[in-house]
Amino acid sequence: MLSIRRIVSIEDFENIRKEIRVGRDPNELIISVCTGTGCIALGARKVVEAFKEELEKEDLKEDIEIKETGCLGSCELGPRVIIYPDEICYFKIKPEDIPEIISKIGIKRRVVERVRV
Ligand code: FES
Repeated sequence: MLSIRRIVSIEDFENIRKEIRVGRDPNELIISVCTGTGCIALGARKVVEAFKEELEKEDLKEDIEIKETGCLGSCELGPRVIIYPDEICYFKIKPEDIPEIISKIGIKRRVVERVRV
């Protein structure tokens, strides 16, 4: 279990990252949607709901987890989405992009180049 502590160096930060990752399945598919203030203002809530609906529709709820995160930086390019474990970054995502993204990552893990950076 992680404890609250002060980060005073990059090494401290990296050590905490490693601790967080211990025990995780490195191949777990996670859709990380920024729900920081900037992305919320640009429609992140609708994006999260669209992901949930699409996973339900495609019967992928057990295979892909959706996580909401704090600000990932570059808010003006939101809503931002990162697909793990491949760390595929998407910017300016709209609900209408979600079916295509899900169809590509599904289990085959392809990428939607049109909105990828
Ligand atoms: S609020 Fe989403 S990137 Fe900053």
